[in-house]
Amino acid sequence: EKGGFSSFMDKEIHDQPQAVGDTLLGRFDTEGKLSLDEMHIDENVLKSIDKIVVVACGTAAYAGQVAKYAIEHWCRIPVEVELAHEFRYRDPVVNEKTLIVAISQSGETMDTIMAVRHARQQGAKVIAICNTFGSTIPRESDAVLYTHAGPEIAVASTKAFLSQVVACYLLGLYLAQLRGNKFRDEIALILKELQTIPEKIQRILDEGKDQVLELARRNEDVGSVLFLGRHVGYPVAMEGALKLKELAYIHAEGFAAGELKHGPIALIDDGQLVIIVVPSKRGRDSLHAKVISNIQEVRARGANTVVIAEEGDEDVREFASEVIYVPETTTLMAPLLTTVPLQIFAMELATAKGLDVDQPRNLAKSVTVE
Ligand code: F6R
Repeated sequence: EKGGFSSFMDKEIHDQPQAVGDTLLGRFDTEGKLSLDEMHIDENVLKSIDKIVVVACGTAAYAGQVAKYAIEHWCRIPVEVELAHEFRYRDPVVNEKTLIVAISQSGETMDTIMAVRHARQQGAKVIAICNTFGSTIPRESDAVLYTHAGPEIAVASTKAFLSQVVACYLLGLYLAQLRGNKFRDEIALILKELQTIPEKIQRILDEGKDQVLELARRNEDVGSVLFLGRHVGYPVAMEGALKLKELAYIHAEGFAAGELKHGPIALIDDGQLVIIVVPSKRGRDSLHAKVISNIQEVRARGANTVVIAEEGDEDVREFASEVIYVPETTTLMAPLLTTVPLQIFAMELATAKGLDVDQPRNLAKSVTVE
């Protein structure tokens, strides 16, 4: 069943080109127009919403955080991302004009189910983004957009995460299209870029994996790892840290790189491993330069800097102990690539320590209690 891989996690990491491809499949026509007919939600309702709130837990919540950057940019609708268990037990401002997006691989996470129920009681519409057909969250939602990642067996989420980001992007582009936003042509271009992602992930697996395996083995005894990123790289950093905590039982934190000087930089001393997710040079504003200067800051304090950067980015070399290159893409698509080396790193480090990567201690695949 593991298809020749040493673990389900390894297999599922390798399933990712297909998981992304399948999640895109059949969802837009040749003219590049999205058709999400499966959603069965009144278009007028979608046109009238004035806020989106994503509710989810763990890795699924990080997918929501990535999507926030994209959906706000494309749709100009405010997007909040809230941990389902926090949302449920405060008094959130939610009404008929709020669209709730509940993201869950299993569809059975009790915290997220309770958030969905709470939101619907306030009159909000709920769209589920889910990987498990017919599970509780889709059944209790107004509409569902399935991720087609296939069954995910390993406890740590990998291919579900990438598919969740893709499904959220489709939803965002659909809303933009529906609300008649200016950028018809831009939507077609974005969809075209999305379709190149499976082969780019495949290239990371074919050409970049060995380097990451080596890196993980060399760091088997590391005591703590910090992950830094800006913009969409920030939730990617947190996802990288979560994978390392749950699989390798190592203390790890993901920070927004800009937050460093507000406290976390005090953690840096000689030899501290810091993994930095660098945005594309061709991307937004001065984001790239800002991250480079964050690398310099930690480097100057003795950090061991591992940099995830776009192919062709030579600027990062000077400040990096090691660079892991991923194929070129747009700023918003980058998480679909930069996450992959972080998954491999956590998996291999755990394996090097002799741990069971499919069944980490104290964790269950779906958390059906609050
Ligand atoms: C991390 C992980 C968890 C889940 C979370 C939500 O690798 O797997 O953080 O993402 O428990 O689970 P679902 O998506 O099933 O609601």
